[in-house]
Amino acid sequence: MTIMVTGASGRLGGTVARLLLERSTGERIVVGARDRRAVAGLGAEARAADYDDPTVLKTAFTGVDILYLVSTNGPHSGRLAQHTAAIHAAADAGVGHIVYTGILGSAPPVIGALAWDTERVIEASGVPHTILRHSLYTQNYTASLAETLADGELVSATGSGRVATADLGDLARAAVEVLLDERHRGVVYELTGPRAWRLDELAAAVAERAGTPVAHRPVSGAELTAELLAAGVPASGAEVLVGIETAIAAGAFTEVSPDLEGLLGGPATSMEESVDSALAQLG
Ligand SMILES: NC(=O)c1ccc[n+]([C@@H]2O[C@H](COP(=O)([O-])OP(=O)(O)OC[C@H]3O[C@@H](n4cnc5c(N)ncnc54)[C@H](OP(=O)(O)O)[C@@H]3O)[C@@H](O)[C@H]2O)c1
Repeated sequence: MTIMVTGASGRLGGTVARLLLERSTGERIVVGARDRRAVAGLGAEARAADYDDPTVLKTAFTGVDILYLVSTNGPHSGRLAQHTAAIHAAADAGVGHIVYTGILGSAPPVIGALAWDTERVIEASGVPHTILRHSLYTQNYTASLAETLADGELVSATGSGRVATADLGDLARAAVEVLLDERHRGVVYELTGPRAWRLDELAAAVAERAGTPVAHRPVSGAELTAELLAAGVPASGAEVLVGIETAIAAGAFTEVSPDLEGLLGGPATSMEESVDSALAQLG
């Protein structure tokens, strides 16, 4: 059985690849990135797998039984074509099963449309598949903790909205379960964290643990857009960020699904535990 992880140079794919290498027992593990040198250090067979290059992709996917397909990053335009090229190359290469990392059905179209359209392309390809619909990563918030601590404030347009983020490490562990256990084939999982929390709760958790004041400063979507543009964030990036925050304010990410804990076989990581890990990394 050969399992290939694409996007293995990134946070999610890299974590999945490392866990798979620890957990797998007879499976051959292959890792891919646009430049194979970016994943050569993982200790698995490294292949170039650029979604912009169909010829390279067909070679990359040859002999692969299960493909963990990570969405590309960057601006939206062109990404559906990248995903489509990867799915068609997988079909042409005879890949037996695709495990796709999508996004919750309740997400706003500004971030959800690409993943939902990709699901349709996978369905149309005829390749058997499993869909892992991710919530927002808790790490989207904890990645900037150093900045939050320095500013003493957390600015958001989420209002009193709640968000059931999922810890990226949990999503990777769940993916490994799916990749190694054929009972998960053909299922659509909605993967959220264990509790929907508010941004003021995150600010309080950071303040309590770091022993320094951190206030939540709620702003409107228009105010956040202006602050992001003034900070040099491109208009397309600001649109996505503000779209996510106003969707949180409107309740798009409040639902908690049992699927992640089901796959993990135990409790999922809480927002507070993710904060603890991020603070420990800051030293
Ligand atoms: N749910 C959420 O909150 C959330 C948050 C962030 C991201 N995401 C999505 O989840 C994906 C994985 O997240 P992440 O944190 O691991 O992102 P990341 O660290 O930015 O990694 C993105 C990966 O995509 C690969 N990639 C980019 N363009 C590619 C192309 N043309 N062909 C093949 N691979 C390409 C990159 O490989 P290279 O080394 O070749 O660049 C990298 O390995 C992201 O790409 C994004 O779509 C979701």
